[in-house]
Amino acid sequence: MGKKVVITGVPGVGKTTVINQTISELAAEAVEYQNINFGSCMFDVASGQGIVESRDEMRKLEQAKQRELQRSAAQFIAKTEGNVIIDTHCTVKTPGGYLAGLPEWVLKELMPDIVVLVETDEDQILMRRMGDESRVRDAEGYRALCEHQEFNRAMAASYAMLTGCTVKVIINADDLLDRAVEELKDILR
Ligand code: AP5
Repeated sequence: MGKKVVITGVPGVGKTTVINQTISELAAEAVEYQNINFGSCMFDVASGQGIVESRDEMRKLEQAKQRELQRSAAQFIAKTEGNVIIDTHCTVKTPGGYLAGLPEWVLKELMPDIVVLVETDEDQILMRRMGDESRVRDAEGYRALCEHQEFNRAMAASYAMLTGCTVKVIINADDLLDRAVEELKDILR
């Protein structure tokens, strides 16, 4: 049976960058992981229904619709066999407050072995968001980002209680991507 590893982090922390480099380095050691982006699975359904044009619009959809999209993404991902990385969010910041990225019915479909929190200093995240013109990032201040990262840790603890998974924090500091990749490789091997 394969390993299921959920990788999370606030938007712009660099989780996708860490995942992509890790997967390509592990492939050179013949350790194979399939990378599934939870948001892309949701987006395929939402754009098919014509309700969003970009992935950044999804977190503004009404709560019931976001839950429905989460459920269809989870059901799709649960069918995947072998080693899987699920690139997603511990919490999503919506106009109505924090939405659990992995509510109970999603967790029970996925049953991850490990939940990884990719974190770094809030100043660095703000700079990375400003430098990324390809996305429509929420305008957030330093304190709001601190709160979001704290909230993600609390939510990850609840996921561990519900599934028995472990929780690993990996720091992706400026210009220290290789260090984050080494840490992630260690838990995926
Ligand atoms: P998603 O696709 O996950 O988008 P995102 O959160 O915006 O994440 P990104 O992948 O764009 O950012 P990242 O943090 O991975 O940073 P990146 O590697 O690009 O989700 C899209 C949407 O789907 C969500 O908004 C939500 O609506 C929905 N969704 C997803 N999961 C959901 C769930 N479970 N429930 C409900 N909704 C869900 O890097 C950013 C920048 O930093 C880059 O410029 C990069 O070069 C730079 N960088 C990275 N690492 C370093 C470093 N070490 N030093 C210097 N620069 C670095």
